[in-house]
Amino acid sequence: MAADKATLEGRVAFVTGAARGQGRAHAVRLANEGADIIAIDVCRPVDDTITYPAATPEDLAETVSAVEATGRKVLAREVDIRDLAAQQQVVADGIEQFGRLDIVVANAGVLSWGRIFEMSPEQWDTIIDVNLNGTWRTIRAAVPAMIEAGNGGSIIIVSSSAGLKATPGNGHYSASKHGLVALTNALALEVGEYGIRVNSIHPYSIDTPMVEPEAMAAVFAKFPSYLHSFAPMPLHPVGADGQRGLATFMSPDEVSDVVAWLAGDGSATLSGSQIAVDRGVMKY
Ligand SMILES: NC(=O)c1ccc[n+]([C@@H]2O[C@H](COP(=O)([O-])OP(=O)(O)OC[C@H]3O[C@@H](n4cnc5c(N)ncnc54)[C@H](O)[C@@H]3O)[C@@H](O)[C@H]2O)c1
Repeated sequence: MAADKATLEGRVAFVTGAARGQGRAHAVRLANEGADIIAIDVCRPVDDTITYPAATPEDLAETVSAVEATGRKVLAREVDIRDLAAQQQVVADGIEQFGRLDIVVANAGVLSWGRIFEMSPEQWDTIIDVNLNGTWRTIRAAVPAMIEAGNGGSIIIVSSSAGLKATPGNGHYSASKHGLVALTNALALEVGEYGIRVNSIHPYSIDTPMVEPEAMAAVFAKFPSYLHSFAPMPLHPVGADGQRGLATFMSPDEVSDVVAWLAGDGSATLSGSQIAVDRGVMKY
């Protein structure tokens, strides 16, 4: 029945980067659908090369309140996804409290700007270490526990439009997000026999603190030829709020609609898929 396929009642979801932005929206949405939540975030700056403000412990506390307001339970902890042991510990603690693990949303990530042949090793290493190596550590911590729980499940890996096409000016980010496609698809083949599905999502232009229009504008002013590699802002497709046809950022909630669908049984036939969440603009 369609209604049964929509519900996540009785399931448990592990969401990384959950203090704010898309991660918070996903945690709250999955809780609204009935899941208990294990929420982690680093809640501090990960490196000097990341220039936008970092999430804070207060941000994570706000996520906790929002999840609790849905009536679901939440285990939240300040954990860096570069730390495998800490992720294994929080997964073990979550399973002890909630009994199982069904859903992983590997969402934590960072962004910086610079040309590949000019950036510092620190800038390159930070992006690869968080976005690619850290996401592998999330998978490494969660998958054995999911297999052990024996309930199958769904893993959603948050890549980017930059994981599907080259983006000059942030080639290290693009390399990390392309790496997540390979991680997604190889993992999908490895865990299918355990009833676990793995898909990646590829958002573009979501309204969160990571996206600094001024930083992007500065890159395009300095290197105007890069502009052609970036799709225009998504056009709003629905008219209910009077925004139809306007170019707008998308909201984290709109991405959560896709995450909730991928988490649930309504997407049971999908594994090893790359889902663009971009209102079609990457086709330009
Ligand atoms: N905003 C966009 O337009 C956009 C587009 C495509 C993909 N993405 C991806 O979406 C994901 C979420 O980003 P967002 O837009 O919500 O930005 P955001 O900066 O608001 O959220 C990212 C969260 O991840 C956390 N985080 C960063 N490094 C971490 C680490 N090492 N360990 C644990 N937590 C860490 C941050 O503290 C923050 O709370 C990222 O993977 C990002 O690359 C964003």
